[in-house]
Amino acid sequence: MTGRPSEERPLRRAVCPGSFDPITLGHLDIVARAAQLYDVVHIAVMVNKSKQGLFTVDERIALIEESLSDHGNIKVESFHGLLVDYCRQRDIPAIVKGLRAVSDFDYELQMAQMNNGLTGVETLFMPTNPAYSFLSSSLVKEVAAWGGDVSHLVPEPVLRELRRKLARP
Ligand code: PNS
Repeated sequence: MTGRPSEERPLRRAVCPGSFDPITLGHLDIVARAAQLYDVVHIAVMVNKSKQGLFTVDERIALIEESLSDHGNIKVESFHGLLVDYCRQRDIPAIVKGLRAVSDFDYELQMAQMNNGLTGVETLFMPTNPAYSFLSSSLVKEVAAWGGDVSHLVPEPVLRELRRKLARP
């Protein structure tokens, strides 16, 4: 029996963009859930030259890769420019964003509508796991800088590097 060559469908792609300075368990939860819905999930570490981070962009990428090493369909890279251009250059039709609370909604809606108006790219909002609804990279850095325990909020590689960077003499 001669089989017909299987019809190849294009890979379904989405992007989770952010600063990821550093990645938290809240981010990881969203990315892992997106990776169950899409063939390939891109994590775009967006470069913002006017914002001085604790971690360099290369360090952020290395930490994300180490934290997600058991996922085979996640690709991490940095991008300097508009998110819509990142999507257009890679044929990515969907942006996945976590929504922690109503307070996130106004700005996220504005960005989603702007991005859709620019190129037609869609934004899909995913409710954050309630265990992480208060969590942000900024708060993690602040608590860690004052010696607070953030071990339940970040993946192990991030905890290790936070301790190294913020170690007091
Ligand atoms: O983790 P953050 O800092 O909340 O992420 C915000 C981010 C990086 C996703 C957003 O600022 C962004 O998309 N920046 C890229 C530049 C851009 O496209 N700006 C226009 C947004 S409508």
